[in-house]
Amino acid sequence: MIKVIDQLTNLFTTAFVECGYEEKYGVVTISNRPDLCQYQCNGALAAAKQYKKAPIMIANEIVEHCKDNPVLKEITAIMPGFINFSVKEEFLVDYLQSMSVDERLGCEEAKNPDTIVVDYGGPNVAKPLHVGHLRPAIIGESIKRMIRFLGHNVIGDAHLGDWGTQMGLIIAEVRKRQPNLSYFDESYTGEYPSEAPFTISELEEIYPTASEYSKEHPEFREEAKEVVFELQNGHRGYTALWNHIMTVSMNDLKKNYDNLNVHFDVWKKESDAQPYIPGMVTYLKENGYAKISEGALVVDVKEETDTKELPPCMILKSDGASLYATTDLATLVERMELFMPASVIYVVDKRQELHFELVFRCVKKTKLVPKDVNLTFLGFGTMNGKDGKPFKTRDGGVMRLEHLMDSINEEVYKKIMSNREMEEEEAREIAKIVGLAALKYGDLSNQASKDYIFDIDRFTSFEGNTGPYILYTIVRIKSILAKYQEENKAVDVSKLCIKSGNTREYGISEVNLMLECAKFNDMIEHAAYENAPHKLCAYVYDLANAFSTFYHENKIIAEENKEKQQEWIALIKLVLRILSTCIELLGFSAPEKM
Ligand code: ARG
Repeated sequence: MIKVIDQLTNLFTTAFVECGYEEKYGVVTISNRPDLCQYQCNGALAAAKQYKKAPIMIANEIVEHCKDNPVLKEITAIMPGFINFSVKEEFLVDYLQSMSVDERLGCEEAKNPDTIVVDYGGPNVAKPLHVGHLRPAIIGESIKRMIRFLGHNVIGDAHLGDWGTQMGLIIAEVRKRQPNLSYFDESYTGEYPSEAPFTISELEEIYPTASEYSKEHPEFREEAKEVVFELQNGHRGYTALWNHIMTVSMNDLKKNYDNLNVHFDVWKKESDAQPYIPGMVTYLKENGYAKISEGALVVDVKEETDTKELPPCMILKSDGASLYATTDLATLVERMELFMPASVIYVVDKRQELHFELVFRCVKKTKLVPKDVNLTFLGFGTMNGKDGKPFKTRDGGVMRLEHLMDSINEEVYKKIMSNREMEEEEAREIAKIVGLAALKYGDLSNQASKDYIFDIDRFTSFEGNTGPYILYTIVRIKSILAKYQEENKAVDVSKLCIKSGNTREYGISEVNLMLECAKFNDMIEHAAYENAPHKLCAYVYDLANAFSTFYHENKIIAEENKEKQQEWIALIKLVLRILSTCIELLGFSAPEKM
């Protein structure tokens, strides 16, 4: 469906052209003064300079030209040259009717779908998920869903951190504790046990212990390095242990991400990119892109136009070891080979911005990635506690994700129980659904790049700009619909306008609600292509508010004019569908009651 805003722009473009002006002046925007009008066109102000006329004269001409247009309701020229206007209710109702019979709610599906990789997990294997992992998961999942909704082929990649010293530390620590395991017996030739020699909770304790220990014991650190080296060279026992670490850790990660309603399409690992490194290094050397600087292999990525100092992109350390950048470069080579994406979007902590700038510049300069491939770094800010510092547990430790979710669910549970009577088990189930919405909406409603304060009381409130408020609106609409349907079993409620050419009176809150619905297809394109879930949240909140005002001003169930009532029911059914679609795209769902 052509978006309302585009239809109106077309109408004004034609008017400008027919009055002898360039078409570019016909751009229409949503009014920033909804108390005065619904839409506006400011083209006369810009055209005035080119045509050397007073803006108000041009605006008056356009108004005169458009005033009998069947779409427009009121149109006025305002000093110094604004054109303010509103549209007829019939136009809106027709538009919403087409939306409501469209399974995509009026959103065009991409005609030439792109393949887009979203790199948004980045958890490190064998370390518990903590609040730092929350933001990429929540933001990335929503971006993936929105872009997919527009018809693109989106691949969400967890990009597990399974490489480097942490693996060496874990294996060395296991050997310190259980030196007699067959994994460490050089002469052992049989099969290794299929059962891992540790559980997930043991594994989660092993890593921090080993990491602490290595700080004080350089010989242990050396041992761990040695293990990594041998692991990379195919040591049988270490490889078997590494597989155990991966399996135990992945099972736990999957469970955690499932609880967050976050689902990756591929679970690629940093180690998967390692086989691409030797070929890549040869290519960079042979084509003269890489040079040796202070023993290390680097690619210069500075450009003449740079105003800031930029270090080179490090490819290999002086001892030949690879670095974080090496892995990201090789991962891009791998992604080009496997998926040929049109874009890759990285949802990563904004403190890694420089790293990605170097990597992006390096792959473009060296043509490892074709220049028309979009590489986007979406850096997110920190989730802070009420003290404005990064969120911590009460004793100052890093908060585990599970514990954070438990505390939110508990808070929501208490709110539910204080509001109404419910069986404990049912309330707990509902609290889980509502808790997830509180957490995700609390995060997503902030612009990703900004830091924000995690405020459990505010996030779980049933009022204001919160997840629970949005769910509450959905539940309320569902209950009105259920009640109506119970009393009016056979009534057709698919029509927003029962008689054609209907000119009944429409209240302001009803028109506002219709205007909000009509924005959906335009809004979702902006939110998706700008990687901006906060725009989707802002829209959901506006729509929920428009519904609440409408609901409070009209007695839907008690309405005596049956036709009007039917039309209202059709309208709120549409509102429900839009809200449900939006929260699905944000990555959470609504309970049946709350
Ligand atoms: N594992 C990394 C970390 O903990 C994040 C990975 C982000 N993605 C990437 N392609 N580098 O910092």
